[in-house]
Amino acid sequence: MELNAVLSWLSLLKHRFYCSGEKYVFGMSADTLVGMPDLSPRIESRCEVIRDPAGFDRQTSYPEIKKEIFKFKYYLRQGCQVYLVFHQNAVVAHAVVARLNRFRPYSFANHAVFQGGTSYLVFYGQTFPEYRGQGINSYILTQICKNNIKTGERVFVTSDWDNVASHKTIQKAGFKKIGVLNYLKVSFFTLRAVFKATEVEPLRS
Ligand SMILES: CC(C)(COP(=O)(O)OP(=O)(O)OC[C@H]1O[C@@H](n2cnc3c(N)ncnc32)[C@H](O)[C@@H]1OP(=O)(O)O)[C@@H](O)C(=O)NCCC(=O)NCCS
Repeated sequence: MELNAVLSWLSLLKHRFYCSGEKYVFGMSADTLVGMPDLSPRIESRCEVIRDPAGFDRQTSYPEIKKEIFKFKYYLRQGCQVYLVFHQNAVVAHAVVARLNRFRPYSFANHAVFQGGTSYLVFYGQTFPEYRGQGINSYILTQICKNNIKTGERVFVTSDWDNVASHKTIQKAGFKKIGVLNYLKVSFFTLRAVFKATEVEPLRS
């Protein structure tokens, strides 16, 4: 197995058995989707959604994707959607969307705040450094919501408490901060899972 695959496998394993930190939880439901801004990136871009590992084979020529192919294919096998944004001939950003009643990429997603109805979690999102600040990530988030929220579905995205760039991007896309989740899981033991809501009204499913 090549080195990148080994590293990806170790990182997946780590997420299963260790998860800690203070996460800001943001959500979008059909109610809030109505007020979602109509965003487009400031550079010419196209967004592609991949839903099966075979569809991914066409993307292996992109170095940014090739490096992470093991991880992306693993997520696709778990029923996730992979969003890729292209500018000219380069992949400039990605994000992955899990349907939580099928797959939970991080153990904190077992918390009750994410349960009930059909919920999606956006994770593993990044815009590659030279393309940041062009409105790309906020655009991906709006596309994910438009594609997945039909009636009662909800889309969640979390961010480390100190990732200001990420908070701003998520809020620019129209997501509401619904609370802070303080979480610690080691091996099979959840040692802390405290959710503090910031909204009076919970997100309706
Ligand atoms: C966070 C991240 C995904 C943002 O991607 P991006 O494509 O640059 O974000 P956008 O251009 O859509 O930003 C939208 C808004 O967020 C704000 N913002 C983005 N980056 C910012 C920064 N570094 N500092 C302050 N505000 C920032 C701006 O207000 C921007 O609004 P504008 O378009 O009116 O200027 C990118 O910085 C990144 O990949 N970071 C590393 C990985 C990461 O943290 N992923 C998120 C995990 S939840």
